[in-house]
Amino acid sequence: MGFTMGLNLLLLMAMVATNILSLYHLSSTIQPKQPPSPLQQPVPDQLLQQLHTIRATINHLTRLQPTTTTTTTKPKSTIPSDLLLYSHISPIASSCHSHPDLLHRYMNYTPFAICPLDTELAEALILRGCHPLPRRRCFTKTPQKPTSQLPSNPFPSSLPDSAVVWTKYNCKSFTCLNRFNQYKGFNTTIADTTFMSYKSDLDLPIPQLLQISKAASSVIRLGVDIGGGTGAFAARMKLHNVTVVSTTMNLGAPYSEVVALRGLVPLHVPLQQRLPVFDGVVDLVRCGHAVNRWIPVTAMEFLFFDVDRVLRGGGYLWLDHFFSKGVDLEKLYKPLIGKLGYKKVKWATGNKMDSSGVKNGEVYLTALLQKPIPK
Ligand SMILES: *[C@@H]1O[C@H](CO)[C@@H](O)[C@H](O)[C@H]1NC(C)=O
Ligand SMILES: *[C@@H]1O[C@H](CO)[C@@H](O)[C@H](O)[C@H]1NC(C)=O
Repeated sequence: MGFTMGLNLLLLMAMVATNILSLYHLSSTIQPKQPPSPLQQPVPDQLLQQLHTIRATINHLTRLQPTTTTTTTKPKSTIPSDLLLYSHISPIASSCHSHPDLLHRYMNYTPFAICPLDTELAEALILRGCHPLPRRRCFTKTPQKPTSQLPSNPFPSSLPDSAVVWTKYNCKSFTCLNRFNQYKGFNTTIADTTFMSYKSDLDLPIPQLLQISKAASSVIRLGVDIGGGTGAFAARMKLHNVTVVSTTMNLGAPYSEVVALRGLVPLHVPLQQRLPVFDGVVDLVRCGHAVNRWIPVTAMEFLFFDVDRVLRGGGYLWLDHFFSKGVDLEKLYKPLIGKLGYKKVKWATGNKMDSSGVKNGEVYLTALLQKPIPK
């Protein structure tokens, strides 16, 4: 008990120190003229709040501590010691500490055994900003009967059910997923025609996209598809020898597994996360349906600037069917996108005609924007 309390105290001190540091940084950026003397000033509410959160977290962890930690006969009842350990030695997001219940559940596993089936829990944490998650020392459950026949083309006529652990999903097969309209991306045969046809000005077929870039002497070889779903875009680009990685969350269906089954790379990254790609190395970033008016504007601004960071000069940002309310597009999003200072290669808007679109006065924007080349 004394040992763990000591750990807790260390953890608390480390967290307080980090928070005071960041607070110091914040206050010195906001009030650059004042000499930094944090000790003489009254304690701001923000710091008090943070301290409160930290204290609550520690209390929570301590309360969950079994009274007899010395016993070795009951491994089930031990506190997730990996949680405390990894808070120290491996990078975990600071927001992880704001969700002690979820974090505790996530770290409550038996080391060196099979991990719990808890993708939903992991994603719940990731979506709350707990990314990176703490590492664990357990073995991820893989399908019982792995298939020997993995598709080698990105448009397989069927996907092997045996390649997915279905336990946590309502559906237990791809046939089942295909029956429900919201899972239409799981029929890779239908996906075959996506991105190839021009039905309205909002469409940008891939041959046209490649033509545009070629004409501008700005070849597209590497791309990131934000909110890539089942990887339909990356699959289509692969046929053109373009490498595209897709960010995907599973959210109730095996999206990441399907991307991988098509021989493509699924990046398990939420929208609010810095893209795990170096500066200025990517030719194209596509933002699909996942990037829309539901994202807080501030978060979207950070997203766009992160896209700018990974794009090389002359690279393209493609907003594909971005939707928002009509008034917001003019007043909010157009100026926001304008901050990037990109060249508008394509800018098309149109009414969103489905029931929620009509009800909320929503519009679509499809834009192809080119990052300027530094002079
Ligand atoms: C996918 O869609 C095609 C065309 O609608 C259909 O013929 C096929 O049966 C579907 N595949 C699955 C697995 O449901
Ligand atoms: C892709 O690369 C392969 C192998 O180099 C080549 O045969 C094929 O023509 C290329 N496809 C396109 C669309 O450029």
